[in-house]
Amino acid sequence: MNLDRVNQIINGYGADRAVSLAVLQDIQREYNYLPREALELAAGRLDMPLGEIYRMATFFTAFSLQPKGEYVCKVCLGTACHVRGGARILEAVERELDIKAGQTTSDGKFSLEAVRCVGACALGPIVMVNEEPHAYMTPDKASKLIVQLAAGKVERVEAPPAPRSARAPIDLSSVPPAG
Ligand code: FES
Repeated sequence: MNLDRVNQIINGYGADRAVSLAVLQDIQREYNYLPREALELAAGRLDMPLGEIYRMATFFTAFSLQPKGEYVCKVCLGTACHVRGGARILEAVERELDIKAGQTTSDGKFSLEAVRCVGACALGPIVMVNEEPHAYMTPDKASKLIVQLAAGKVERVEAPPAPRSARAPIDLSSVPPAG
């Protein structure tokens, strides 16, 4: 695995354990998951025990230790989206992709996740595709969106601003102490 990008990320912040969370977020964004080799490199360069890096990587749901699909589809099941049919949208996407939430298609194209509020309740029901929110979804629209993504042509449903909370920095103070 080419780890040049990991080194660039760390160089950009400075090799200091205080920036470890930001480094992990950028690695996750770069690779769509946290490859073991990248975590080992980060631990060494940030002068942190590998176990501590793994503890952070497994504590936050925003991180994944497994490779994700090219498109990570997150169907919001938070309260506002749920009352507007979020569960039916999830069912439609599961049917279209022939996988369940938490799984990745065998061709590595799609990962599907059921998530809680992504911070854009007024635009719900929401389906996030990677960092892109698709607003006012219905089961039919969601199925069509998957077909369009699979075909490589996505027609934007709406163009709302990306919800701030979906990209908000993670609060490191909530990580339980080691041991
Ligand atoms: S409940 Fe779905 S965005 Fe808030």
